[in-house]
Amino acid sequence: MKYIIANWKANKTVEEAKEWSDKFLSNYQPRANLTPIICPPFHLVQGIYESFRTVSSVAIGSQDLSSFEDGAYTGEVTAKSLSSFITYALIGHSERRTYGNESENTVAKKVSLAKKYGIEPILCVRNENDNIYSDSDFIAYEPVAAIGTGKNESVDTVLAMREKMDLPAQMKFIYGGSVTSENSSSYINHELIDGLLVGTASLDPLHFCSILESIR
Ligand code: PGA
Repeated sequence: MKYIIANWKANKTVEEAKEWSDKFLSNYQPRANLTPIICPPFHLVQGIYESFRTVSSVAIGSQDLSSFEDGAYTGEVTAKSLSSFITYALIGHSERRTYGNESENTVAKKVSLAKKYGIEPILCVRNENDNIYSDSDFIAYEPVAAIGTGKNESVDTVLAMREKMDLPAQMKFIYGGSVTSENSSSYINHELIDGLLVGTASLDPLHFCSILESIR
């Protein structure tokens, strides 16, 4: 199975999300070996869940979740509350680590709360120095220099990092950083790369569909 994840970041209104979903659904061809995962911002999670309710091959994820379980934590969105809608959650994205000052301790709490509520954490790491938690089955390697810059890391460098990380056998390895339909094929068709995390290029549903189609 290959996993291609759309990370919309802090983009799209309710209307724009509806338009994206309609366009996506009129172009999307399900494939037995592909799971697209759509990760909208929190305010769109329920709407996307409803738009894709009958499309069993498409999964929904969040871009983050709270490190608190529930209670008096104004503004937090918990794993428990998200678990009705999502199957996956990105955890520890470099933008959360930087702009949210997220520590390894916080990332670890989020991974374990996701697991507790039946959500599969997709742990994002910047390099081999970020912790890898063995209770996460998905690791997304996203070198900071490649995110949103148009400077995607070469397949060879990505594979060298995978080797350095010495991952447990069951762990799925995902690459992210300036993935487009022009470069996606060389990553996604490599046997050691299980998926792609796509930011900018996922904002356009047709571009995202053409990345999905690059799987052979
Ligand atoms: P990008 O973002 O595709 O715009 O580089 C990837 C990400 O940060 O998940």
